[in-house]
Amino acid sequence: MKNFVSIKHLSKHELLQLIKLSDDIQRNGIDRFPKQLFAANLFFEPSTRTKMSFVVAERTLGMEVLDFMSERSSVQKGESLYDTAKTFESLGTSLLVVRHPKDDVIQELSEQLSIPVVNAGDGKGEHPTQCLLDLLTIYQEFQKFSGLKVAIVGDIKHSRVAKSNAYALSTLGAQVFLSSKHEWQDHSLPYPYMDIDDAVEQCDVVMLLRIQHERHHKHLTLNNQDYLQKYGLTQEREKRMPPHAIILHPAPVNRGVEIDSALVECARSRIFKQMSNGVSARMAIIYRLLQDGGIHTHANNINERSAISR
Ligand code: CP
Repeated sequence: MKNFVSIKHLSKHELLQLIKLSDDIQRNGIDRFPKQLFAANLFFEPSTRTKMSFVVAERTLGMEVLDFMSERSSVQKGESLYDTAKTFESLGTSLLVVRHPKDDVIQELSEQLSIPVVNAGDGKGEHPTQCLLDLLTIYQEFQKFSGLKVAIVGDIKHSRVAKSNAYALSTLGAQVFLSSKHEWQDHSLPYPYMDIDDAVEQCDVVMLLRIQHERHHKHLTLNNQDYLQKYGLTQEREKRMPPHAIILHPAPVNRGVEIDSALVECARSRIFKQMSNGVSARMAIIYRLLQDGGIHTHANNINERSAISR
């Protein structure tokens, strides 16, 4: 694995290896890299979870994190994304984590650099590291994907999380359903749509999405209560979910819009577990990229452990 920019590039075997490596790192820990390595997190869009869990993952692995804030950088003097990234490469950075508002620019960037690039979210494109932590959360719950029914619910059209998860879950053998207000359906995705009332009764996983106001062309005036009642997870709908079914949401959550606030921390919600899982999933991605790129080569029993668990 040279870069981690799209979940579409990964086979079922590669996805399972990464999920199991993430799980193993969480259970058993991992040695820090024995030599000085730098990571740079280039975020051109706001982030709390993704950026901070990358910082925790990088520091836990012993990497030094180069502080970059686009609003205080030479981006303000007109420097391009390519020149910014090339600068970090020239400084000896071993890993670039990039979030950008434009679809596909991170893929293009990764093809122009010699160091590993991780997509931390590109416009409406993909969010593959969020996807890996979501897969880890589902795997820890059910120990399988085959035969599971997963409903992805909300602003499908503008969501990179929906795309990465739908591709990966179907690669892994889960049945994927989408549920959305008519205007936010995306018919380029080859998955059936389902009403929220059917989704809650029939699915093992209900994955809710935030309304991506920042990606809408037209300003939307939305009555939150009305949206929740028509398309969201209300307390009444949660009661109709099967006993074993779980709730996921990539967050940030708009409480009272896509989900009733009281359900965010209810017994079947795994929303904060997803955030914890973000650290080990991101450690696994970094570890694999630096290992496959020959950037760190220290002996570590992690390879043996993950080979055994495959
Ligand atoms: N889930 C997610 O990407 O959250 P942040 O925008 O806070 O990183």
